[in-house]
Order: sequence, then C-alpha cells, then structure tokens
Amino acid sequence: MKVCIINGSPRKGNTYNATQIFKEELQKNGAVEFVEFFLPKDMPHFCCGCFNCFENGEENCPHAQYIQPIEKAMREADGIIMTSPVYVLAENAQIKALLDHFGYMYIPHRPRKEMFSKVAMVISTTAGAGTGNAIKTISRSLSYWGVRRIYKCGFTMFAISWHEMKQKKQKKFNDILVKKAKKFYKVMKKRKHIHSRVFTKILFTAMKIMISKYPDSNPDKIYWKEKGWISGGKSPF
Ligand SMILES: Cc1cc2nc3c(=O)[nH]c(=O)nc-3n(C[C@H](O)[C@H](O)[C@H](O)COP(=O)(O)O)c2cc1C
Repeated sequence: MKVCIINGSPRKGNTYNATQIFKEELQKNGAVEFVEFFLPKDMPHFCCGCFNCFENGEENCPHAQYIQPIEKAMREADGIIMTSPVYVLAENAQIKALLDHFGYMYIPHRPRKEMFSKVAMVISTTAGAGTGNAIKTISRSLSYWGVRRIYKCGFTMFAISWHEMKQKKQKKFNDILVKKAKKFYKVMKKRKHIHSRVFTKILFTAMKIMISKYPDSNPDKIYWKEKGWISGGKSPF
C-alpha cells in the first residue's frame, strides 16, 4: 500500500505525534510505503489568484513545481493523510494555501479519475477548540476532489503538549488512533470495490449537465469530453 502524507505544519508537535501513532499502526497491518510532504517547505506559496490553472491549464500555475509533485504523489497513493493543527479556531494557513492551489481539481472543473477511488484521513489537534472547523475545510476539498471515503480524527487536548496530558487521556487518544488506523488500512485495501458516495454521484451528474452546455472551447469541457464523461457514457467511479 502507498500512503501520501501532507503534514500541514513543520512542527514535530502534537499533530505530528498523532500522525506518527497512526502511521506506526498502519504499518502493523501490512507493508506501507509513505511519501511525506511538510508545509510550508514543500509548497511555500499562497495562491496568487492568477486563474492560470482554470483558464490555461494547471501546468501554468506559477507554483507548478511544488504543486505537481504533490498531485502526482496523491494520485499514485492508495491513501491520503492530511493534517493540520488548529490555529485561531480553524485549519492553519499553510494547509489552506495548498488546498487553494488544487481548486482546478474540483469536480466542477477537472477532477482526477484516480481520486474517485481514494481513501483519506484528516488529523487535527488543538489545545481547547476548533478541530471541527479545521477538519471540515480539509475534508470539503477532499470531497470536491471526489475522494471515496474520508475519515476524521480530531483531538482536543486541554494541554500544550501530548506528553503533558494525563496517561489515561494519552491512552484514550492512542486507542482511537489504533482503531482508526486498522479501519483505514482495511478500507484502503478494498478501496476500488466500495461504492461511491451519493454526494459524489449527484455532484458529478449535475456538473455533467452544466458542462455539456459550455462553449466547446471551454477548458473544463474539453477535459470532460476527452475523458468521455459527457457523451461517451464513461464516469470516473
Ligand atoms: C498561531 C496559533 C493559534 C492557535 N489557535 C488556537 C485556538 O484558536 N484554539 C485552541 O484551542 N488552540 C489554539 N492553538 C494551540 C494549538 O492548536 C495546539 O497547541 C495544537 O495541538 C498545536 O499543534 P502542533 O503541536 O502540531 O503544532 C494555537 C496555536 C498557534 C501556534
């Protein structure tokens, strides 16, 4: 199995610690090869809103040298893990900046076929509140990329560091991660055989109708036609 991890923060703190526990548990379930990215090192830019990705192709993004290797690693993986600590009650800016760059991959634009059979996990930690917001933003993008199953793991620590938490709480969080890793591995193995989400099917069908009415020169229409998704009777799931 191949897993692509996008660490939203370079800090080897609480979120990293939770991710490590998840990673170690995955490896206990079978052979897993990891490809890891750390933000902002591996994608140090904000989206500048040039519209190049939408209008002229994502290869013309001024940050394509960072974005394309991340897209490739995600497409080649069986599973994707995305993480973010909570900053001011939401995801951190680094992960949001990465997600902004992948707007072109949304179902209403040029979704990647491979994404429709992916399994993803979103991990977030906070001192007191906010994992719900952080996880929601990240999982929304994954949903709009077509990802088949999205799992979530948020930890409200009421402590500054993982090891400052009481042993009982550390064990509780550890047990949650172990359980979720087992499930994630299982689903990752059979990912191509599980049914697609209703949300994905409805959005895809609605966009198929809309995009078919676009002018023939529209880049999204050209892409959908090439894939055979408009009149070829094909679908990515
Ligand atoms: C800039 C910044 C903003 C933060 N905002 C919040 C917040 O709004 N609510 C909260 O409960 N914790 C907040 N925290 C604490 C972190 O969410 C928490 O310590 C988290 O576990 C850090 O993850 P890390 O160790 O992986 O960096 C903030 C931390 C930083 C650095």
